[in-house]
Amino acid sequence: MRGALLHAVGDDKLDIRDDFTLTPVGPTDVRVKIRATGVCHSDLSVLSGVLPMPLPVIPGHEGAGEVVEVGDHVTSVQPGDHVIINWTPACGDCPSCVGGQPHLCMTFVMKSFTDARFRYGGDTPAFGMAGCGTWAEEIVVPWQGAIKVDPEVPYEAAALIGCGITTGVGAAINTAKVRPGSTVAVVGCGGVGLSVIQGARLSGATTILAIDPLESKHELAKKVGATHAVTPDQLMDAIGTLTGGQGFDYGFEVVGKSAAIMTAWQATRRGGDVVVVGAGAMDDMVPLTAFNLLFEGKNILSSLYGGTDVRRDFPFFAGLYKAGKLDLESMISARIKLSDLNDAVAALKSGEVLRQIVVMD
Ligand SMILES: NC(=O)c1ccc[n+]([C@@H]2O[C@H](COP(=O)([O-])OP(=O)(O)OC[C@H]3O[C@@H](n4cnc5c(N)ncnc54)[C@H](O)[C@@H]3O)[C@@H](O)[C@H]2O)c1
Ligand SMILES: [Zn+2]
Ligand SMILES: [Zn+2]
Repeated sequence: MRGALLHAVGDDKLDIRDDFTLTPVGPTDVRVKIRATGVCHSDLSVLSGVLPMPLPVIPGHEGAGEVVEVGDHVTSVQPGDHVIINWTPACGDCPSCVGGQPHLCMTFVMKSFTDARFRYGGDTPAFGMAGCGTWAEEIVVPWQGAIKVDPEVPYEAAALIGCGITTGVGAAINTAKVRPGSTVAVVGCGGVGLSVIQGARLSGATTILAIDPLESKHELAKKVGATHAVTPDQLMDAIGTLTGGQGFDYGFEVVGKSAAIMTAWQATRRGGDVVVVGAGAMDDMVPLTAFNLLFEGKNILSSLYGGTDVRRDFPFFAGLYKAGKLDLESMISARIKLSDLNDAVAALKSGEVLRQIVVMD
């Protein structure tokens, strides 16, 4: 089968090849034929090394498809079911799972660093990003990594729910718990940032400021719910006109850089919540002083995978989509083929595109 392989961090191009095979389906595994998969910034971060993965690796974690085989002990899905890939499967037994934070479960994350589920070129092992690797035609995941979805939800929309939507809308609804009538600033208007904007709109925020250096993103941000849009250097003026100089109730960072966290910090009012959604590098220090951390009264919240329980929220977001409350079509800037992934990576790096969705043949 076909897939896109990264041999080494920093490689110019992915190796798109057609000789991949999969490990056999174990008793608690599910084999999924991927039907649609997105290009998220986290995939770029695997290519650049910002997000460390075992190598060689097939990127891709935002995906949806059809179940084609299940292990003997699997009861949650059966062949023919439509599923969304969950890139943090929850084991159900660890302290995070038992404590009600399944998005923090590390059980399968750790396993994915030693368990190479692909082979190529004969018998050379290859890993899947975060245990997934949706930039391949088929994947094998633990049953907790394939969540059944209403077959009326198109695969492309289901794929978006697999990462961007859940991360962004979840950050607003689950992590920040944005209150009706509040003011929200969102730093970074890619696929995830636009999802935060949609979550803030759904939560009843009355002022939603989109912040992105690329003006091409401003119209799109407004289309999905932003009430205003500025470049980072216009932020101080916007704080003045939109919040009377106080700052916003919530500031979301959706870029993955310490500089953007500082922009979100600056945008947030005294006592407000600064929500970190972007996935930054291990050596990218955030320059906050101990004085500021206490006396500005701001809360820094981490929002990994939208602070979600995907068993509850994948169907919840699918329902919102079906009810016309989530605009997923505006999030898709191009439908592409697996063979276009190198161009898609270059396009996302340039910043001018939103979600590019690979629709498998
Ligand atoms: N928390 C999570 O669980 C999770 C899940 C998925 C993605 N992410 C991360 O979220 C971030 C965003 O992902 P995406 O797919 O939307 O990315 P993207 O590349 O589509 O969009 C990033 C946007 O940020 C803008 N930007 C760049 N520098 C900026 C700055 N200094 N100030 C304001 N805007 C700036 C770019 O112009 C672009 O529009 C990435 O770091 C990604 O890895 C986190
Ligand atoms: Zn667990
Ligand atoms: Zn993602």
